[in-house]
Amino acid sequence: MVGLLDSLEIKGLTLRNRIVMPPMQTSLATANGAVTDSLIEHYMKHSKAIGMLIVEHSYVSLAGKLSERQVGIHDDSLVPGLEDLSSRIHATGTPVVLQITHAGRTTSMETTGIKPVAPSSDTNARELQGEEIETLTEAFSIAAERAMRAGFDGVEIHGAHGFLLNQFFSPLTNLRNDKYGGSFDNRMRFPLEVVEKVKERVKGRLLLYRLGSDDLDPSGIQIKDSQEFAIKLEEAGVDIIDVSGGLCGSRPKQFQSSQGYFIPQAQQIKNVVNIPVIGVGGIAEAEYADMLIQEGKVDLVAIGRTLLKNPDWAMKAHKTLSAKN
Ligand SMILES: Cc1cc2nc3c(=O)[nH]c(=O)nc-3n(C[C@H](O)[C@H](O)[C@H](O)COP(=O)(O)O)c2cc1C
Repeated sequence: MVGLLDSLEIKGLTLRNRIVMPPMQTSLATANGAVTDSLIEHYMKHSKAIGMLIVEHSYVSLAGKLSERQVGIHDDSLVPGLEDLSSRIHATGTPVVLQITHAGRTTSMETTGIKPVAPSSDTNARELQGEEIETLTEAFSIAAERAMRAGFDGVEIHGAHGFLLNQFFSPLTNLRNDKYGGSFDNRMRFPLEVVEKVKERVKGRLLLYRLGSDDLDPSGIQIKDSQEFAIKLEEAGVDIIDVSGGLCGSRPKQFQSSQGYFIPQAQQIKNVVNIPVIGVGGIAEAEYADMLIQEGKVDLVAIGRTLLKNPDWAMKAHKTLSAKN
């Protein structure tokens, strides 16, 4: 039976176990989004003994920057710093992927200097025009190409937590009536175009999609919608689906105390695809994470805040689980 400590072979990479550090923003980059020594130190500290590390969301264009000192991937000048980061993490034996993102309507003029953009206008943002959407698809694909040049093993496209791609997919935020809105197929169009272009640039390396699987709102994305979307993502060449929550953000208040709060969604996505699925949400105990893999609920387990608090968590998990077997 496969468990948390078992390796996973994918795209010529060996993940030494099923423990993933999910993307978590540190605000340790420079004001221009460049990698700093403290950012590298942070990841070195947390990459020990885990199966794969996903570096925090990095903005693909200035208009998509969410906050101060966020990591950027919007400019060629950032590649050498990112290369330093990936090579230092690789030296610990851990494969590393970079999450690429655009905040859409979630950012502010104070952060970017320009009015935020979104699928549909609201009090904060203006509606994107068709040709601007094509430019953004290009921005994602160029960002992916930079990540490859910087030595990452792949990229994760951020399609969750109410950011731009999630805004296009959700009927709560996409009120368009052109080919990018209206019907279910139209709401998937922009995210799928991004996947298609990014896939071309990662050239056989890993492509992950972080899926906002559930808006937790009766009028928003439901799991049956995400299942249909996940099938399309697999068809489009996504290698791993990282299942999180939707517009509400990654840590919904109602779930604060439950371990594995997005696991039911991840399991339902896993039921309809043949590619590995990452599950997440308040996971703290090695035995619980191991059970999730053993029972086939998910293929990989993301340990976020627990790993931040305890960088040796994976090593301890190894001891705890090895002692049991
Ligand atoms: C400080 C912090 C920063 C985060 N930044 C990101 C991010 O950059 N991209 C992302 O997809 N999720 C982000 N998340 C969500 C985490 O990846 C994860 O899904 C969430 O924390 C739930 O997992 P946990 O309960 O194990 O912490 C962040 C979470 C925290 C706590």
